[in-house]
Formats: sequence, structure tokens, C-alpha cells
Amino acid sequence: MAASRTFSIIKPDATRRNLTGAINSKIEESGLRIVAQRRIHMSREQAKAFYAVHAERPFYNDLVDFMTSGPVVVQVLEGEKAVTAYRKIMGATNPADAADGTIRKLFAESIEANSVHGSDSDNNAAIEIAHFFKEDDIVG
Ligand code: RTP
Ligand code: MG
Repeated sequence: MAASRTFSIIKPDATRRNLTGAINSKIEESGLRIVAQRRIHMSREQAKAFYAVHAERPFYNDLVDFMTSGPVVVQVLEGEKAVTAYRKIMGATNPADAADGTIRKLFAESIEANSVHGSDSDNNAAIEIAHFFKEDDIVG
């Protein structure tokens, strides 16, 4: 089966606690490959655009504040059924509901400060990757 891609963010709560390597170990242990990576401090404009689908949700402003509160690591992951494979190892949005051994169960602080983002469909993965990477920056 052909490899596919997903988009990942290591969120500010995780970079603040120096967990970038620990989280990427879990990603690599699962068989996914990190094929592009950049550490950035998102502007409010970038965060608002990225989370535009949640613009009407009550937590939108807090989410934009949180995602711009410190550095993040944006990355592209490649592997078989990458979107579902990554969401499986991320665990549920709320760490209280996340399965044992998942990244959010191990590392997340709360439903908002939940350490990682992962795309929820192949279509959104392509859109999200294009927010942050040119095709030339992705090396499999
Ligand atoms: P993500 O997009 O970050 O991978 O997370 P997700 O699919 O599991 O969750 P989603 O529903 O897309 O929500 C996006 C992010 O918004 C924050 N959130 N806060 N305070 C709240 O009730 C609440 N609900 C969601 C989380 O940071 C979540 O990951
Ligand atoms: Mg989501």
C-alpha cells in the first residue's frame, strides 16, 4: 500500500516542557517517518487561519492564545494510512479519555494543552501541510 502523509504540530505545552524528542520517539516507534520539520512561533494570523474551522466554537480565542503562547514544531509525517495511524497514537482530544500509551495520555496537561495536533482527514492533511511547507521542503 502506498504511503500517505499527515500534518503534525507539537504544541506549546510540550515544547515548554522540553518534550519534542520524547514525542517524536513515539512517532518514530510507531513506524511513521518525519519527512519535514520546522520550529516556529506562530503569529495570531497563522493560528487563526489554521483553526478557522473552529472560529464559531467557544474555545476558539483561548485556542489561538494557547497556540501562540510559545514555540511549536510543525512537521509532516509519512507512512501507511498516516492520518489514522497518527491519530491512533495521539489518543483522544481530552487526555482523561486517552488510551494508555498514547502521546496525550503520557504527556498532555489538559483538553486544550494536549501536546499534539494531527490532521483528521487526507484532504485536511494536504491543506494543512500547504499552510507551512513547500513541496521541495518535504523529503521522504
Ligand atoms: P487537533 O485538531 O489539535 O489535532 O485536536 P482534535 O482533532 O483532537 O480536536 P479538535 O476538536 O479538532 O479541537 C482542536 C483543539 O482545540 C482545543 N480544544 N479545546 N476547551 C475545549 O473544550 C477544547 N476543545 C478542543 C484542543 O487543543 C484541541 O486539540
Ligand atoms: Mg482537529
